Amino acid sequence: MRLTPDAVLPRLRGSFGREYAWAEEAGSTQRMLTPDAAHGSVAVAEHQTEGRGRLGRVWVDEPGAGLTFSVALHPPPPVARWPELTVVAARAVAAAIGPEAEIKEPNDVLVGGRKVAGVLVEGRPQEAWVVLGIGVNVAVAQDDLPPELQAIATSLGRPPADVEPLLALLLDRLAHWLAAAPHDAMESYRARDALAGREISWSGGHGTALGVADDGRLRVRPAASGEDGDELLLDAGEVHLGSGRGR
Ligand code: BTN
Repeated sequence: MRLTPDAVLPRLRGSFGREYAWAEEAGSTQRMLTPDAAHGSVAVAEHQTEGRGRLGRVWVDEPGAGLTFSVALHPPPPVARWPELTVVAARAVAAAIGPEAEIKEPNDVLVGGRKVAGVLVEGRPQEAWVVLGIGVNVAVAQDDLPPELQAIATSLGRPPADVEPLLALLLDRLAHWLAAAPHDAMESYRARDALAGREISWSGGHGTALGVADDGRLRVRPAASGEDGDELLLDAGEVHLGSGRGR
């Protein structure tokens, strides 16, 4: 099954995807949408040759076995704020995948403790122009994941025919959660928070993750501050499970 307009558009219920660009192969779907694209325009590629991840990383897909797409958004403030938008999108991805999906702040969706999907937010939020990119390993065989990702990444392990209905469902969930009150989206996110209560480390220290604040930042209690110590708010960045000692 291909992700062509003929296959996908009849399934769409929400406002997203009325403008729909499809490519058999693209560098990155993030580059297929320009600032004049209408809110909810979608760009999909069957395969990306230069898939991009956060923090300058690459996103590798297996042709026909992954879902790689981007959505143009002109969200009104305050939802245009970076962390909030990322966690709301991750929430939508988790909802589309199912109850087994958890979210690792800010943008990773995990199944069984391994990353199965990622969210990339780019653009100019101050001008209400955002490109939201989502990649999901839907039908990739575990052995076909890059060797350096074997221990931390996984696949939904579904048949390739599931890629196209997942796209339609995901666009529906995305439209739903972006329209929801930010507080509701955050509450729902918290129910799937993979980090809350766990020991984590970040570039400046280590401690316990307490959950996600309403603005999308991560609440942590540094180990050095003790049981009743002060909380910190971390911006979306590099957070690792574990104390970081011994790494
Ligand atoms: C991450 O986990 O760091 C984010 C990965 C985002 C990947 C998607 S795939 C569709 C869109 N196009 C890209 O080049 N990247 C995003």
